[in-house]
Amino acid sequence: MPRPTAPEAAPGAFAKLCAMAPASPLKIGNIEIFPPLALAPMAGVTNALFRRLFKPFGLGLTVSEFVSAQSLVRKNARTLEMIDVYADERPTSVQLHGNDPGVMAEAARFVEECGADIVDINFGCPAPKIVKGGDGAAILRDPDLAVRICDAVRKAVVNAPVTVKMRLGWEADNFTYLDIARRAEAVGIDAFTLHGRYGKQFYKGSSDWSYIAKLKEALRVPVIGNGDIASASDAMRRLSETGVDAIMVGRASLGNPWLIAEIAAAMRGEPKPDAPTVHQRIDFARAHLDAMVERYGEKSGILQMRKHLGWYLKGVHDASTLRERINHAPSADEVRAILALARTRELEPEAGVEEGGEALAV
Ligand SMILES: Cc1cc2nc3c(=O)[nH]c(=O)nc-3n(C[C@H](O)[C@H](O)[C@H](O)COP(=O)(O)O)c2cc1C
Repeated sequence: MPRPTAPEAAPGAFAKLCAMAPASPLKIGNIEIFPPLALAPMAGVTNALFRRLFKPFGLGLTVSEFVSAQSLVRKNARTLEMIDVYADERPTSVQLHGNDPGVMAEAARFVEECGADIVDINFGCPAPKIVKGGDGAAILRDPDLAVRICDAVRKAVVNAPVTVKMRLGWEADNFTYLDIARRAEAVGIDAFTLHGRYGKQFYKGSSDWSYIAKLKEALRVPVIGNGDIASASDAMRRLSETGVDAIMVGRASLGNPWLIAEIAAAMRGEPKPDAPTVHQRIDFARAHLDAMVERYGEKSGILQMRKHLGWYLKGVHDASTLRERINHAPSADEVRAILALARTRELEPEAGVEEGGEALAV
């Protein structure tokens, strides 16, 4: 698997970031995590195969896609697949969504038995499908329910730490995160991740890290800050300005695991890795494709890879034509041939990975 190559010297700005390093390890319960860098849970993206491919770039922690507690207790076969964890990606957190404390407790105990290192509770997803069912960010409207869920899950899980990932609240004039987190900490929740947007906001505006700093100040347990991290300097600045214990990165890493390598290097105080060449990017995309086809079969593998390949191709000359061809390619070999063609292309002068937009919002 292609990896970022070792750089010769750290350029000035990066060297300044390194002066803030090394970052302290994140400790959740008895689990020590270094670097304090987590890959955000992303439904439809961060399955075990993806997490395993991205882990070697320097992630300290990986988190599963959210998993329905209801489907899990019914032992739905597809849901059971979603809680698979590979040995070489650990420590891994498995995230559950649901609004029935008893069902959440049963599902949590089950994922612990199946090998999750950490059980995470989702109080943040704003997707209409989830909110309509009263799950995800909808729970932020009912702090008592949120705390009952946390209490039930904490009591059900025997050894693993239990964490919560949340937004600020459901709507702008009713931020409940602080109340919920304080009370959830009191029933034994071991760490919190806060994305500094509220539910109704989806991905509009920006993540407000001043609330994340407030949460850090209010709690004894670790706080992981999340939202709009797109560079090593974003990550190091947020760490030092807010005092959070770790950074979680999501959309900006899509098609760009080299961002993870850059942040991890800054956190370790190591020189900045070289930016990937077109060859490295396409070779990695090809390795991702091959792994997906092997794991999910040709038809599902190439279908699932369309979005990933679109991300990997960002910044490559005439990427839109290449994407269009990939989206109509009938076989894995045809996709491989298009990637071979992409390998001969240059990067556009402004190459870089755009931040994910609302289209990605779940
Ligand atoms: C495609 C996609 C899927 C997501 N799925 C989940 C999920 O399953 N659970 C969750 O807690 N957050 C989910 N999120 C939210 C991210 O974990 C993260 O909180 C959010 O994208 C903000 O971080 P970022 O600005 O670094 O992307 C998802 C985000 C995206 C873009």
